[in-house]
Amino acid sequence: MWDVIDFIERKRDGLAHSPEELAGFVTAVRDGAAADYQISAWLMAVFLNGLCEAELVAFTDALASSGEKVVFPKAPKNGRTILTVDKHSTGGIGDKTTIVVAPLAAACGLRVAKLSGRGLGFTGGTVDKLESIPGMNMRLSTDRFLKQSDEIGVALSGYSATLAPAEGIFYALRDVTGTVPSLPLISSSIVSKKIASGADAFVFDVKCGSGALMADPASAANLADALAGLSGALGRKSSCLVTDMEQPLGEWVGNAVEVRESVDILSGRGPADTRELCLALVSAMLVISGAEDSPASARKASEEALDSGAGLRKFAEMTAAQDGDASVADDPSVLPSAAKKHTIESPGTGTVAKMDARCAGMAIRALGGGRLRKGDVIDLSAGLRIMKKIGDRVEKGEPVIEIFYNCDSRLQAAEAHIGRMFAVSDPPVAKRELILMKRD
Ligand code: URA
Repeated sequence: MWDVIDFIERKRDGLAHSPEELAGFVTAVRDGAAADYQISAWLMAVFLNGLCEAELVAFTDALASSGEKVVFPKAPKNGRTILTVDKHSTGGIGDKTTIVVAPLAAACGLRVAKLSGRGLGFTGGTVDKLESIPGMNMRLSTDRFLKQSDEIGVALSGYSATLAPAEGIFYALRDVTGTVPSLPLISSSIVSKKIASGADAFVFDVKCGSGALMADPASAANLADALAGLSGALGRKSSCLVTDMEQPLGEWVGNAVEVRESVDILSGRGPADTRELCLALVSAMLVISGAEDSPASARKASEEALDSGAGLRKFAEMTAAQDGDASVADDPSVLPSAAKKHTIESPGTGTVAKMDARCAGMAIRALGGGRLRKGDVIDLSAGLRIMKKIGDRVEKGEPVIEIFYNCDSRLQAAEAHIGRMFAVSDPPVAKRELILMKRD
């Protein structure tokens, strides 16, 4: 008879599990037959001893099959077979790309059905950001998610407890047992949820830097390879960008403020780095889905959808379909805004040498824009405006960061992080590349 203690001991001793053993363990986790301490012990054994390729594929498949799986219709629509493409970022600061990319890719003819997360640790989450739109429903039922993405080409929702439910249990325990930064655990966590939510192809944005799970390019490249290998082994196409997360993406960090910046980008304005990354991601989605033959034609199609306003109209349509106030697309003042502003000025003249993404994420959490405990109600209006980027010239006394907040004690808590966020150097410092690697 299968024995959970024997199973844990095998991984502790560096032995491999069979696919049947892994499937049995995942079922036991989902059904509550394995205790949290046993699951945690196994997670630590995997953290230390890893999973071989066959184990990783079998474990991911078992996680993806632990609940419902979304299946999209494959029949041609208006004479064309529409592919469902998903985009996934490994998490960062100021990363609002999903809010732009999902409607933009749908405006280019793809079906984008995307399940997103809430903030995790010091990183922000798309679900929290979009919930700052009055009325917006980010808890779509599987039926509604499927119907909406089929009818209007795009649906964004929070993870449902019925899709990959065992993965949710592992994820919560990893968060509190020091087992998050493990390549097999991260890649199986991401790919299993993508498979359960029904997409045919994935584009991964692996973040690299102080505000990311992977701090250096070599670890980010390893994660990109692991995601591609796992997707391929489970019959899905994928491509991957490795992108910089040493400093926040764009000009704004927070929840409502990032929705406002996304509307700006969809309206043809907004910071160049975020616009560039969004176009690169949509182009990759168009190529991987076969909707466009070449990176050049994909880029042209994405730029046209952005510049013509088709992406913005699709965003408004998606917002209305999810009960949100679609007037946000024309008038972002419907979003909550903070009552107070505090400006940080540069202490010296020179070049910006540091604008640390992780500190920005911790500052937002201290301002109430992220959670310290599960279930905390967050302040959707708190935000940071990043006025200078690494490599920019700055004069003593020039504003570099604006803090938008509601509560003075929270400002004090945030200032400790902001104090470590920024540095000026006398010798010039190079501007950072945004897209560090592409993997097809
Ligand atoms: N995102 C996920 O879904 N899982 C991880 O482990 C890390 C990032």
